[in-house]
Amino acid sequence: MCGIVGIAGRNPVADRLVSALARLEYRGYDSAGIATLDRGQIQRRRAPGKLVNLASRLDRDPLAGNIGIGHTRWATHGAPTEVNAHPHATPRVAVVHNGIIENYRPLLVELAADGYLPITQTDSEVVAMMVTRWLDLGLAPAAAVQATISRLQGAFALVFLFHGEDNLLIAARQGSPLAVGYGAGETFLGSDALALSLFTDKVTYLEEGDWAVVTPDGASIRTREGGAVTRLVHVSATNSNMVEKGPHRHFMIKEIHEQPEAVSRVIGQFVDRRSDSLVERPLPFDFATLDRMTISACGTAYLAGAVSKYWFERFARLPVDIDIASEFRYRQPPMTPGGLALFISQSGETADTLAALRYCAANEQHIAAVVNVEESTISRESGAVFPLLCGPEIGVASTKAFTAQLTTLACLALTAGRKRGVIDDATFAVLLAALAALPGHLSKALAAEPQIAEIARGLTKASDVLFLGRGALYPIALEGALKLKEVSYIHAEGYAAGELKHGPIALVDEHVPVVVIAPSDELAGKTMSNMQEVAARGGPIILITDAEGAAQHADLAAQSIVMPSVHPFVAPIVAAVAVQILAYHTAVHMGADVDQPRNLAKSVTVE
Ligand code: G6P
Repeated sequence: MCGIVGIAGRNPVADRLVSALARLEYRGYDSAGIATLDRGQIQRRRAPGKLVNLASRLDRDPLAGNIGIGHTRWATHGAPTEVNAHPHATPRVAVVHNGIIENYRPLLVELAADGYLPITQTDSEVVAMMVTRWLDLGLAPAAAVQATISRLQGAFALVFLFHGEDNLLIAARQGSPLAVGYGAGETFLGSDALALSLFTDKVTYLEEGDWAVVTPDGASIRTREGGAVTRLVHVSATNSNMVEKGPHRHFMIKEIHEQPEAVSRVIGQFVDRRSDSLVERPLPFDFATLDRMTISACGTAYLAGAVSKYWFERFARLPVDIDIASEFRYRQPPMTPGGLALFISQSGETADTLAALRYCAANEQHIAAVVNVEESTISRESGAVFPLLCGPEIGVASTKAFTAQLTTLACLALTAGRKRGVIDDATFAVLLAALAALPGHLSKALAAEPQIAEIARGLTKASDVLFLGRGALYPIALEGALKLKEVSYIHAEGYAAGELKHGPIALVDEHVPVVVIAPSDELAGKTMSNMQEVAARGGPIILITDAEGAAQHADLAAQSIVMPSVHPFVAPIVAAVAVQILAYHTAVHMGADVDQPRNLAKSVTVE
């Protein structure tokens, strides 16, 4: 993870480096640091904790210089202390790193034999030490970097700053994203276009193995072997105004409230509202002839995929294999060539999801991706991309991307169902109407926020919370538990309601709230029996349901959250909003750092 930035400029860079890091803080916030070149000398300021600590250090002790690099860290190797904060430096070179250098131990042994000893506990410092050794041996900066990166195993995005080189940064990429931004007489480097959007919209994404010699006048990009190469300059649509909180207290609640619009934008991509039909778009695969689909993703995105398995299997009779990407990638599943592999990712950079994608590509699958960041690596490596179009998601806990993913997958399931001749005209009309009404229903769901905030107050006293759901609502129970854990740090588990009696019921007593997600549908009666089992053991129930469910079963529940009545097809999307608000307000009542929960990062670019 970690966010990195570099500016080769003609004006002071320290403040601008910090502003760019603020855009990257979602990638990690364990420590931050910058280095600049002041009259040829490398100068550094670093601070443990959030960027605000670095900013106040810089207020007290500013840094001059027109060229510099910066880093915001999600700790992998070594505690989040100042000494372990990037940039790592020797008198000759400073470096910022995103990724993991897997072979850093043997490299350190090798360097120690030559008298180069580390002072940090990180894997990253070895990179600065190796470059220094090559510089000491007389190599020029570019040659020293090339010689170093050829020895590194693992994932890295690196930016180097050199003693005495006022106009030079060198960047390298293998496995972790890195982009070059072109300004007027200044050149920028950043982990994503969001950071660069402060300075420019002209962006080039380095490819795997690329490294670049960067000056204020531009960048000369080389391949791993050293040959010059030209990479496309994109005009990035990312706009730095998209990342303001507006009237909201946190990004998370702002993004929760953006969901009706986000979902509506997704529907607009798939549904022609004038003719009430699906928009025909050419795809590099044919849903009609597929035997199987493989879905892989991580975290909340995985849970969106888990919901969609119910949809694809029910409405398109398309068998779906779904797995967590970190498991899938090493499982070596057999794959019949010509199948469809679908990847879901907000960031488009999650290391495990990307590795799973590459496994499937190597196994001759059609690659499709549901991605928010369109310029991401997963997008670029996919044959078909279904963009979420929901704008930057800053809150570490994914919310609007989740419902946009669900809506995209619902639309794809409908598309597949029609292509496979499973959904007849009448059913199609009903399902389409359910989708079309969804943005309005989400707005109504959001109106329940004050009531849910009150219910959340009760959850703050709990040490453990169970979430139950059935069918396509089971993954929403998992998501409800995940959200609550992530932002409030209350231990929570999601279970398939039918599984309750096979273990989790042993936990139920008057101190363990049980959130039951059960709008009125064909399975509600079954879930209600499970609710009875909880009630009989004194477990306080929070029932997430609709008006009909509340009328029939609210007596069993200590509290009810009444969501709008919708078709069961889209009920998981509506219920998702309820569990998000519940988690958010529980965390707010507890004074937790909602947008940047401890130990987490939004974009997980390491294994
Ligand atoms: C992290 C984030 C989650 C996200 C997951 C997958 O764990 O905190 O919110 O669901 O990564 O990320 P992706 O960008 O691939 O959706």
